[in-house]
Amino acid sequence: MPADRLHSRRTFLRFLAGSPLLSAVGLSGCLDPGPGRSGTGTGVAGGSGSAGADAALRNHLLSSADEAINVFDFQEMARALLPPAHYGYLATGVDGDETLHANREGYARFQLRARRLVDVSTVSMGVTLYEQDWDTPIVLSPVGSQRAFHEEGELAVARASGALGHLQVLSTVTTTSVEEVNAARERPVWYQLYPTDDWAVTQALVGRASDAGCDTLVLTVDLPVGSNRETAQRLAAEDSRDCTECHRSGAAADDPMGFLSGYLDHKPMFQGLDLSQVSFDTPFMTWDFIDRLRGITDMRILIKGIVRGDDARQAVLSGADGVIVSNHGGRAEPSGRSTVESVEEVVAAVNGAIPVLMDGGIRRGSDILKAMALGANAVCIGRPYIWGLSAFGEPGVAKVLELLTEELRIAMQLHGVRSLSRLDRSYVTRA
Ligand code: FNR
Repeated sequence: MPADRLHSRRTFLRFLAGSPLLSAVGLSGCLDPGPGRSGTGTGVAGGSGSAGADAALRNHLLSSADEAINVFDFQEMARALLPPAHYGYLATGVDGDETLHANREGYARFQLRARRLVDVSTVSMGVTLYEQDWDTPIVLSPVGSQRAFHEEGELAVARASGALGHLQVLSTVTTTSVEEVNAARERPVWYQLYPTDDWAVTQALVGRASDAGCDTLVLTVDLPVGSNRETAQRLAAEDSRDCTECHRSGAAADDPMGFLSGYLDHKPMFQGLDLSQVSFDTPFMTWDFIDRLRGITDMRILIKGIVRGDDARQAVLSGADGVIVSNHGGRAEPSGRSTVESVEEVVAAVNGAIPVLMDGGIRRGSDILKAMALGANAVCIGRPYIWGLSAFGEPGVAKVLELLTEELRIAMQLHGVRSLSRLDRSYVTRA
C-alpha cells in the first residue's frame, strides 16, 4: 500500500474509532470467530484489481448504501470497519493469494463478442434450476460466520436475498440457525454441508436442514484438510482484541483444522451435538460419500468445488444433482487456476446431464455474462455481498445484488443478448 494511502487510512481509522459508525455495526468488540491468526491489509481483499485510490476515497465517504456505484465501493468500507482478524478471514486466499487473484484475472482472458441489431428493449435474466424459476442467475454462495461482519449476519442477508428473489446458500458454520434464516427469507435456503469425520454429526446436520424445509444440500469437497491462509494469519497478528469470549479455537469458519469443539459450540447448527472429537479434516473422503449421503436423505445433492471435467463426469455417475465449479474463492488449493477457466471443461463433461453453477471472482455484470456464455447455468458470489453486509447490513447486501443485476442487464443489452436462455458460446472468445 502506498505511504499516502496508508496515511489516509490511518487518519480515517482514527476518525472511526471515535465514530458512532463502529458501535452502530456492533464491531468494536469481537463478535464471532475469525481465524485465530491473520495479514497486512495490503489490498488483497477478494482481488478487486480495479478499485483505485480515488474510489477508495469515495468509499470512505459513503453515508448510505445507495451511494455505491459498484461493488468495490463496499470493499474499502469493510476493510476500514472490520476488526483486522475478521477482515483477514474475509480477504484471505492461500499462500501468496495466487488462486484468489487468478479467479479475478481469469475474466480478463475472455472477451465478449457483441451481436448487433438485436431488439433488446427488454431482456430476461431469468433462469430455471430444478423446475424452479428465478428472476436472476445471481446466487449467494455460502459464507461462514456472518455475524463476524455485521451483528445481523445471516438474517440481514436472508432478508435482502429473499426480498430481491435471489437463491441463498447457507453455510454449515452459519451464526444464525437455518430455521431463523428460512423464516427471514420466507423461503428455504440451500444448505451447504462440510463433511466431518463424525457420521452422527453429519446425519444430524442433514436431518435438521431437511426438517427446516431445505430441499437441497451443497456438499463442499475442496477442503479435505485446512489450507495455508497467510493473509488471514498476518491480519490476525495485528488484532489485539481478546477473541476468546466469542470463540476459543483458532480455527477459521471455513478453515477446518484440528478438533473444533471450542469453535463449533458457538454455532447454532451444532448445538446439542457431541463435538468432543469432531474434526472437519476428512482426507479419507472419496466418491462413496455421495452414496452414504443418498442413503440418509431425499434432498437434492450438489457437489461444490469441482474444477475438472473428469470429476464432473464422476459426479454425474455418482448421482449428484448438480455441481458448483469453485475453488472456495481462492481459499483452498494453491493451484493458481481460475474458476472461469475451469467452467468450460466441466460443462462439456456434464453435457447437460445436470446443472453447472460456478463461483469465484465475480464482481461485474460482464463477468456473469462471460461465465454463462461458457455454459454455467447460474453464478454465485461470496465476498461482494459480505462487503455490503459489513458496510451497511441488509441495505448493503441489497445494493450489491442490485448493482450486479443492473450491470448484467446493461451488459446483456450492449452485447445483444435478449435472454440468458439464448446465450451461447458464440458470445465469448478467449483473449
Ligand atoms: C467462504 N466460502 C465458503 N464455502 C463453503 O462451502 N462453506 C463456507 O462456510 C464458506 N465460508 C467462506 C467464508 C468466507 C469469508 C469466504 C470469503 C468464502 C467460499 C464461498 O462459498 C465461495 O466459494 C467464494 O467466496 C466465491 O468466491 P468470491 O465470490 O468470494 O470471489
